[in-house]
Amino acid sequence: MERDSAEGRAFVGQFGGIFEHSPWVAEEALDGLPDGPPTAATVHAAMVQAFRAASTEKRLQVLRAHPDLAGRLAIAGGLTADSKAEQASAGLDRLTPEEHERFTTCNAIYTDKFGFPFIIAVRGKTKDDILAAFQARLDNTPDEEFATATAEVETIARLRLDALFPGYAA
Ligand code: GUN
Repeated sequence: MERDSAEGRAFVGQFGGIFEHSPWVAEEALDGLPDGPPTAATVHAAMVQAFRAASTEKRLQVLRAHPDLAGRLAIAGGLTADSKAEQASAGLDRLTPEEHERFTTCNAIYTDKFGFPFIIAVRGKTKDDILAAFQARLDNTPDEEFATATAEVETIARLRLDALFPGYAA
């Protein structure tokens, strides 16, 4: 699909937010799209291919475009609609003060160690699942955690696309 065509612009308009605040992933995915009507699977495959082809620095920027879980931006109401729904689905908008304190502490330690926020595909997970994963991942090496975080971003993208293509299983 041509970037400068009406179709190309419509694609970027529709899928530009699938990778958080990173419409370039949709732009770069245009070349890899097969002919025919898009499905969650074909759009995801093309976007993941574009994401993986990008430099480490560009992928790092995508990680850094994510808000903290239960962070200041969430409290201030500044999340994208997708992030807001994801965080709410795991109950992160309804934390006790103690739970909130734990997230705040973990977010600070994690970001300090890795240089990007803790990212996890939260849909279907509980607060306790997320906190357990948070603790476990703090022990990872920077390389392990970059690989884990970028894989989580790809999973989040798939879940967001599945929600946009109801009825498509594959
Ligand atoms: N996992 C799913 N959505 C989000 C998000 O908005 N921020 C972070 N840090 N992780 C997520």
